[in-house]
Formats: sequence, C-alpha cells, structure tokens
Amino acid sequence: MAQLWGGRFTKETDRLAYQFNASITFDRRLYRYDIQGSIAHANMLARQKVLTDEERDKIVGGLIEILKDVELGNLEITDEYEDIHSFVEANLIDRIGDAGKKLHTGRSRNDQVALDMRLYVRDEVDAVDDELRELLTEILKIMEENVHTYMPGFTHLQKAQPVTLSHHFGAYFEMFRRDRGRLSDLRRRMNFCPLGAGALAGTTYPLDRRYTADKLGFDGPTRNSMDSVSDRDYVIEFLSALSMIMMHLSRFCEEIITWNTNEYRFIELDDAYSTGISIMPQKKNPDIAELVRGKTGRVYGALVQMLTTMKGLPLAYNKDMQEDKELTFDAIDTVKGCVRLFTGMIRTAKFRSDVMEQSAKNGFTNATDAADYLVEKGVPFRDAHGIVGRMVLYCIDKKCALDDLSLDEFRSFSPVIGDDIYDAIGMKNCVERRNTTGAPGEKAMADEIAECRRYLGGH
Ligand code: ARG
Repeated sequence: MAQLWGGRFTKETDRLAYQFNASITFDRRLYRYDIQGSIAHANMLARQKVLTDEERDKIVGGLIEILKDVELGNLEITDEYEDIHSFVEANLIDRIGDAGKKLHTGRSRNDQVALDMRLYVRDEVDAVDDELRELLTEILKIMEENVHTYMPGFTHLQKAQPVTLSHHFGAYFEMFRRDRGRLSDLRRRMNFCPLGAGALAGTTYPLDRRYTADKLGFDGPTRNSMDSVSDRDYVIEFLSALSMIMMHLSRFCEEIITWNTNEYRFIELDDAYSTGISIMPQKKNPDIAELVRGKTGRVYGALVQMLTTMKGLPLAYNKDMQEDKELTFDAIDTVKGCVRLFTGMIRTAKFRSDVMEQSAKNGFTNATDAADYLVEKGVPFRDAHGIVGRMVLYCIDKKCALDDLSLDEFRSFSPVIGDDIYDAIGMKNCVERRNTTGAPGEKAMADEIAECRRYLGGH
C-alpha cells in the first residue's frame, strides 16, 4: 500500500478501508493530465525561486520520462498506489530522489485533482464536439441529396402534411447544432485553472497562478480558493449536455427503428449495422439504434448521480467528490461511442424514396392544402375545414385519396372547385409551395442548407 500521508498514523489502514478509499483503478485515466499539471507547477515554482533550476530540471525530466514509459507500456499503473497522484509522485521520487519530494510544495491533492479533472473534461468536451461535427456533416449530406425526397410529416404519429427527408433531417441538424452550442458555452465557463488553490485556503508560497493557468491553456486562474477545490459544476453541466445529446440521438433512433419496420420500410439499415437472431432466419434487427436509445438512461443516470453526490456537500473538498469520476468517464465513453456508431449507421443506410413518397400520398396529407384552395376561392377557413372534412370522410368510405376524386365529385362538396384543384393538392406542389423560413419547400430548404454549410465551414 503506497500512500502519501503516513506520518500522523500509528496503525495501518484496514485493508478493505484502504481499497474502499483508493481511486487508482479508475483515476489512472488521468495520468497525462496529472503529469501535465505537475510540469507546469514545477516550472512555476522555479520561476518563483521556490525550487532551484536544477531541481526543476530533474523534476520535469523525470515527469516526462514517466509519461513516456506509461505511454510506451514500460510502466504499468498498478493498484499498489492509492491514486494517480501518489503513483506519479512515488515514481518520480524513485527516479530522481530527494528533488522529487519537493514537487508537492505549495500544492494539495485537492487542487491537483480539481485541475486533473478539469483538464480531462476540457479535452473530452472537444472530443465530443468533434464527433458531433462529423455527425452534422453526415446529416447535411443527406439533406443535400434529399431535397425532393417526399415523405409524410407526422404529428401524434399520424400523417399530417407532406415534407421531405431533407427537411426531416434538418430538424436533427438543429438539435445537434444546439448541443454543440451548449458544449462551447460550458467550455468557456469552465476554462479557469484551480491549481494554486491549495487544500482550500491558498498557500503562503509566492505562487504565480496566472503563469500556470496560462501554460495550461486556461483563460486565467479560478477566483475563490474554497470554491476552486470544491467546484464540480462543469462536470454536471457536461453531463447535462451529454444527456441532451443522448435524448436527441434516442429520438432519432426511435424514428429509424420505426422506419425500418416491415410496415414502414422507409429505410434499410446496412448489414454492418444490423444483427440477425439465432432462431428466426428472416430477421434483421436494428440493434445499434436500439442500444443507442437504451444507453440514454445510463447517461441520465450519471447526471442524476452527480447532482445527488454534490447536493449535501459543505465547503470545501469532501471525499464524496471522488465519485465524480467513474460514471462521468462511463457517460463520456458511451456518448462518444454512440455518436460515432450512429453516424456510421446513417451514412450506410438506404432511404426508400419510392416508399416514402407513396406513403405521403396516402393518408390525406394534402387536406390542409385542399382547405387553403377553398379559402383562395373565397370560402372562409372554418367552412373550408368542414367541407374538406366531409370530403375526407367520403374518400375513406371509397378507399381512395383526395386526388382520386372526379371534378364532379369535388363540385358536389363545393361549387367553387375547378380543375385547378388537382394542381393545388398535388403532393409535390403541397411541399414546394411551402417556402416560409424553415419550411420544406425547395427555396426555403436551399437557404437552410446554405446556412448549415456556412455553419459547418465556420465551426
Ligand atoms: N482521489 C481523490 C479524488 O478523486 C483525490 C483527492 C484526494 N484528496 C484528499 N484530501 N483526500 O477526489
């Protein structure tokens, strides 16, 4: 058992208590950030004359070697250390002797872990953002290719009005664009450096917190030192942004699963993203989409856990906060994996434009346009609504679409109807005439797609 705080104790820690307390099995993931922070700290201590240049060189050289050895697999991070901080420090002392013992001057594990976690989360915010960018690029491609792929739009899962696949995917473009906005907001808010806050009350050494903050790519040092060591807001904000991403992915998956059913057949998932089932040879299941939907709960779980862990904590550091790691790590891995798989799944999927278009033609998705036609002929909208309602009822009985009615049949509902009705309620016209900002018509979509392209060019 390698621990950093033996002096005051007269008894060994109980074995189970030691294991319960230790975090090395999971915080080993932070080794790079721990070393990066330690190098900045040692450089700053030498600038402030707390360390000699020679001591600094030994420390920094030793830390770089440890980093290399870990990355090359020559040095294993084993469970014999309590946490990643003790692992790095003990190894440093083994390698360079007494100078290694000076690294921790003016520092506590409290500001050290606060820094490591921040550096890690910041990198992961960027990594998730990269994945989302890939996804948006793929969505935009599908939008560009499907401006004239007509399909029914739904409300209450009932066919409502015809839209296009491009328009439908455009809705998801907006969701993931907002998700990226949330990531960049929280990144801006979190980008301050807690190093130098000490255990909770700063330190008597003349630390230059601005220098270390700058070297580590932060916008400056955090302010209040008690807040600095006990703030995990950024973890919660990140988990919340991740939950939102999963909620969006999950909705998308739900649609894809529905579209992939025998009843819909709007989409065919590639074999690479589907699985068979041992007993039923005909089956090709959308497991990837289902799993992404399923894993959403797991990410929400991490958010609720973290909110709950923090809710009762007095200032400043408390060991409860060590619980900020495992589920956060898991949530991050889960989201990155899900976004990547989802992107591959839609990249390889085939969209059945013929089936979609046929489906948009059935189900009276042009009823609103029929009513609008009557309004144009001078019928008040409420009356028009009633007239078209009766037409729909008639068609249901006849098992046909509105477009199938003869002009005489149309006229029996309203004498104002002329043979321009067929043009007015033709499915393509219904879509293409909708050109208000954000609507599915070709003109509106062209603007929308141009804007999405500009956004991806700049972000
Ligand atoms: N393993 C701890 C954590 O993850 C490191 C900080 C320990 N500090 C302390 N005073 N016990 O939070």
